[in-house]
Amino acid sequence: MGKDEAAERLADFIREMLPESISKGLGQKNSAEDIRNHLSGIFSENEQLQIKVGRLSELIEIGYMLSGEVRLDNLLLLILEKSKRLMNAERSTIYLVDKERERLRSIIATDLEIIRIELPIDQGITGACAQSGKIINTPDPYSDSRFDKKVDIETGYVTKNMLTAPLWDKHNKVIGVMQVLNKREGTFDKEDERLITLLGSFASVSLENALLYEAQEKMLEMFFESLAAAIDAKDPYTAGHSARVTEISVGIAEEMGIGGNELRELRYAGLLHDIGKIGVRDSVLGKPGRLDEAEMHHIQDHAHQTFEILRRIPFTESLARIPDIASHHHEKVSGKGYPDGLVWEEVPLGSRIICVADVFDAVTSNRPYRDPMPFDKAMSLVEKGAGEDFDPEVVVAFKRYAERVLRGKMSAE
Ligand SMILES: [Fe+2]
Repeated sequence: MGKDEAAERLADFIREMLPESISKGLGQKNSAEDIRNHLSGIFSENEQLQIKVGRLSELIEIGYMLSGEVRLDNLLLLILEKSKRLMNAERSTIYLVDKERERLRSIIATDLEIIRIELPIDQGITGACAQSGKIINTPDPYSDSRFDKKVDIETGYVTKNMLTAPLWDKHNKVIGVMQVLNKREGTFDKEDERLITLLGSFASVSLENALLYEAQEKMLEMFFESLAAAIDAKDPYTAGHSARVTEISVGIAEEMGIGGNELRELRYAGLLHDIGKIGVRDSVLGKPGRLDEAEMHHIQDHAHQTFEILRRIPFTESLARIPDIASHHHEKVSGKGYPDGLVWEEVPLGSRIICVADVFDAVTSNRPYRDPMPFDKAMSLVEKGAGEDFDPEVVVAFKRYAERVLRGKMSAE
């Protein structure tokens, strides 16, 4: 078999092996070199295409992931991490526009840590992007007069190139700026600009939701704090009681390793635990000295009233236990408490925590008819109640917290 014939057979074999879309392009090319050139052209095109498809599918995946996150901090970290990877950049930063303070607050994701910084809204390339709403591609920042070297100086980082894109809300207002720094190969190109714009639009939708969620959360918290202050103001002897009980309860819970949503639920329950006192007559609430039996019943009814008031609030699922936790803060593990005489685990853990904080704050507070109990005496009262009035595990956590925080605070007063 001659050389040409062998080449022809090889070409035929390759034609049969390859999908028609590729083999068609081979035409009459028969020499090994012709075939190699043709195929390597296809493969390199294919490689480029694969990279593009890879980036696009990553972008779609990011879109899905972002839509599932409503907590602002988590969301920012997720966007930072994903944008850094997708844009093949060393660093990524998100700046959120704080209109009231005319500043941009930001989180920077490096390979090693998370850094938070703040910038004036009218400075640097970031400020220019926030104000113009235009994407800014900066292949050489140090030759751009708008570039603010301060961040590099503060963070000890050298910016070689950067791409800065605005984040829009649905009312066409810039809510933030997304920035990627130091592309790992070369500088950012037109394709990167298109990609960051797409990523930015995904990120904007999620960020807007998260910002709204954060604002609602803040509003709810301030509303509960105001309510707590109003409850405390009704009782002349208990100014600041609900806020202090909440602080102590949170301290105990943290000692017990409680965090996240459970802690948030406990904090709100702490603020609202005495809301039922709204229904207690002022003459009974403010009566100095001993109460008769009817007055005692009337005042104890506040626990049940707390439940009656709070159960009307359509709490979201994550806060649904607030009425239950708040209204059982006078239960004792022995079953001798009120309103339901629950025992041990029947009493919600949050209520067992608030119960200790409530008693400690009550005995150490000033009353016109008695002096406040000193720290050590109050502590031994709580410890004596372990297993009868209080959950012993809560008492242990309370003691750790109280020794660390409350002892010093009380002696300073
Ligand atoms: Fe109470």
